[in-house]
Order: sequence, then C-alpha cells, then structure tokens
Amino acid sequence: MNVFIIGLLFLLVIPEVSPQKYAYVSVLSSNDFLVPAKTLAYRLKKLNASIPYIIIVTQDITQNSIEQLKEQGVIVHNDTKIDTPYIATHKARKYQYTKIRLWAMTEFDVIVHLDLDVLPTRDISTLFKCGSFCAVFRHSDMFNSGVFVLKTNETVFHDMVEHVQTAESYDGGDQGFLNTYFKDLKFAPMYDPTGKQPICENFTMRTLSATFNYDIGMYYLNNGRLLVDPDIIHYTMGPTKPWLWWTYPLFDLNWMWLDARQEMEQGSNAELDTSIALAATNCLLILFLIILKLILEHFVVNMTTDTVSNVETHVVSQAIYLFSVWFSLKLAHQSAQPVAAWVFFASNTAWTATILTSIYTKLRSGVDVKVKSVLSCVTFTMLTYALSWLILVQISHFNTRVLFAILSILAQQFVVVTYIRYALIVRPCRQQIHKYQILPNNHHVA
Ligand SMILES: *[C@@H]1O[C@H](CO)[C@@H](O)[C@H](O)[C@H]1NC(C)=O
Ligand SMILES: *[C@@H]1O[C@H](CO)[C@@H](O)[C@H](O)[C@H]1NC(C)=O
Ligand SMILES: *[C@@H]1O[C@H](CO)[C@@H](O)[C@H](O)[C@H]1NC(C)=O
Ligand SMILES: *[C@@H]1O[C@H](CO)[C@@H](O)[C@H](O)[C@H]1NC(C)=O
Repeated sequence: MNVFIIGLLFLLVIPEVSPQKYAYVSVLSSNDFLVPAKTLAYRLKKLNASIPYIIIVTQDITQNSIEQLKEQGVIVHNDTKIDTPYIATHKARKYQYTKIRLWAMTEFDVIVHLDLDVLPTRDISTLFKCGSFCAVFRHSDMFNSGVFVLKTNETVFHDMVEHVQTAESYDGGDQGFLNTYFKDLKFAPMYDPTGKQPICENFTMRTLSATFNYDIGMYYLNNGRLLVDPDIIHYTMGPTKPWLWWTYPLFDLNWMWLDARQEMEQGSNAELDTSIALAATNCLLILFLIILKLILEHFVVNMTTDTVSNVETHVVSQAIYLFSVWFSLKLAHQSAQPVAAWVFFASNTAWTATILTSIYTKLRSGVDVKVKSVLSCVTFTMLTYALSWLILVQISHFNTRVLFAILSILAQQFVVVTYIRYALIVRPCRQQIHKYQILPNNHHVA
C-alpha cells in the first residue's frame, strides 16, 4: 500500500523535476561568418557537450555552409530574416531583428544567445540559471545584445512582434530594440553564479558581470591589460575581427581565438588546402605578370626616351608599390590562416612591384632588367616584411606595438621603394639622364 502511494507520488513529482531544456543559439546571416561560427561551435562542444548548439540560418546562407556547420555538430534551423523597420537608413546585414525569434523557440526552456564573434574560455552553463532575461551593461545604460539569456515564451514573442514597428531602436538594430523592450533591466540586481547574494524577489531579470561579455576594446584601451578574467571574450571592433588574417600580430587577443580555430581545424586539411590555394594564386600571378611583360614589351608603342626625370621615377615607383600592396591585400581570402596569408601577401606584393617596375624600365628606358636584380628585389621585400613581423610579435605592450606597426609601414614604403628604384630604375638610366639640360632643349623646341 505504502509502496503504491510512494509510487503514485513519484509519478506526480517527476514532471515537476524534469530537467530544464537548455540551448545555445546564434544567428548566421552572412557566409562571411562561417569560420567564426564553426570555431564557436567547436569550442562550445568542447566546454560542455551536453548542451545543444543551434544556429538559425537565414536565406542568404549557402547549402555548402550549412553542411559545414552540421559537420561541427550544429543543429541548423532554417528561418527567414526579420528586417529592421529602419531598413531604409540601415542597410548593413547586422541591422536586423531576427534575434527575437529566440523567444518563440519553446522547445527549449532557457536559451543563451551568443553572437558569432565571441569566444567562451570556460564552461558558461551557469548562465542558464540567471533569470528571465539577463545581459551585460558595458559602457552606458544600454546593454549589449551580443550575449544574453532568455526564458522562451510565446506570449513575449508575439508581444515583441507587435512592438517591432513602434518601439524605438537607438542603433536601428536588434540591440536598440531589446534595450527599449527591456528598459528596466538596468535596475535589476547582478546575477551571482555562486548563489551567495540574497535573491531579490521583485526582479526576474538580472544584469550580468562584464566577464560574460568582455569587450576587447577595453583591453586595448588599457594598453593590453585585462581588468577581469573573461568567461566570454567578445571580439567587437569591426576591422580587427580575429578571422581576418591582416589583424595578426597587431591585436594579440586574436591569438586566443586562433587557438580555438586551430583546434577546430585539427585533423582536417583546411590549413594545407589554404596554403596550396595561396601558393597556386602566387604562381599564377607571377606567370601572368611575366606574360604581361612580354606582351607589353612586344606590342606597345615604344615610349623610350633618354630624359626620364627623377620626379617621374619617384612617383612611378611609389605608385607601383602602393598598387601592389592594395592588389595583394585583395588577393588572399580574408579568413585564410594568418601566417600563410602573410607569407603569400608579402610574396605577391614583392613580385607585383618588381615585375611592374621592370616593365616600366623597359618601356621608358629600353633597358632589359636582369633576372638577378628582380630576384634580389623580391628577396629584399620579403625579408623586410619578415623582419617587421617578427619584431612586432615580440613587442608585448599594445601601444608600443601600434607605434612600431605605423613606423614599420612608413619605413617599409621608404626602404623597399628605394631599393627597387635603385635596383630596377635609376641605375640603368643614370648615364642617360641629363637633368639640367631638359629645360633649355624644350625651350628651344617651343
Ligand atoms: C554542462 O552543463 C550542465 C547544465 O546543463 C551542468 O550541469 C554541467 O555541470 C556542465 N558540465 C560541465 C563539464 O561543465
Ligand atoms: C534550408 O534552406 C536551404 C536554402 O534555402 C534549403 O536548400 C534547405 O533544404 C533548407 N533546409 C531545411 C532543413 O529546410
Ligand atoms: C510568459 O510571459 C507572460 C508575460 O510576461 C507571463 O505572464 C507568463 O507567465 C509567461 N509564461 C511562462 C510560461 O513563463
Ligand atoms: C518589492 O516590491 C514591494 C512592492 O513594491 C516592496 O514593498 C518591497 O520592499 C520590494 N522588495 C525588495 C526586496 O525590494
């Protein structure tokens, strides 16, 4: 009899203690964020494999990207983007309201939303217990919507959809909207993961410590010092995202993200594939430049003259070098692995600058540049890049590193261009330049 009652009680109690369903969720609306999405997926799985990671992909994402996400164990949800009502003035992809779909995902009880440019450094599952809505205030009375926690609720979702058109958004995106919708969050007490602080019954929302959404901007403003021990690093600053190869080695927090990426790519051929692709591009470029040189020198009208001025060689060599840098920056895929990308960037720059300059010399002065000179210019350019890079990696203070980077870009421009001019332009023409006789001659003709 007693056993029967206990059994009945057990059955009644079971539904109440059934565990809450948790999930990490992100939104992917651009294929440019595929590598960070895969990296975050790998890191989340490594830190706590028991919690599913869902990515809501919008219509812009290719099938290939979806397959790659699935390979990382991500559960992919197809859904349409919710545009911002301010779309006329806010066209960039980040201005959208798709995140409010999270409240409708009632197959889960609590969701931690993560932007794709964050990197958790340790298990963050304590966040699921924080409250009905939790986020981090960083530099103002506005919270950041890169990391937030919510309890799913159909009623709230429909209420939000109703308010989309009328609620104000200070930035034109979801962050502004959520700040309007949850405007009382700033009065809520801070969540204490250790549970030692007394619970304030009057609030179900909680603010979160800055450690759960650490803005890398604060690190660099403090000359490379962390003032907290971050649980989640948020790579906020637009052009310094850690999957962009040219941000290395200037922004040192990016190395932590790169470690996570390398863990994710371990065992795959991703790094080798990129290196082969970059090397192939480099070889094709050199071949193309050589063919261009042959064609131009054979078919273009002869522009040789014996009065190439110093000003002209200065301007032309600087311009060719700047063009080569710009062109080579465009050539490497932006999320290629940084070390490989830097090597091929330096090589592409060196070859482009050198061969274009030798074409110029041939067209203007009729002088054939020696292969030996070309090779010496290429080697010299690549060595100066390698040297700057190696010195930059050694500098530990951020401000000093920025200063050195600026100086080395200026020095690079000066030293490399001078070397190329000396090796490829000035010397072959030197005997023919009669700088001070140009003016009288022209005068005479005129
Ligand atoms: C993973 O998350 C669960 C909560 O769902 C938590 O109880 C558990 O301790 C976490 N595991 C690790 C290894 O942190
Ligand atoms: C998701 O959308 C893509 C492209 O719109 C489509 O090819 C794919 O079949 C969809 N997947 C699911 C599971 O609906
Ligand atoms: C959903 O939100 C509404 C409005 O805030 C609230 O009254 C209701 O209790 C919530 N439902 C659940 C299941 O938490
Ligand atoms: C909660 O709100 C009630 C009514 O507004 C107030 O009397 C009470 O002091 C509040 N409790 C706390 C802990 O702030």
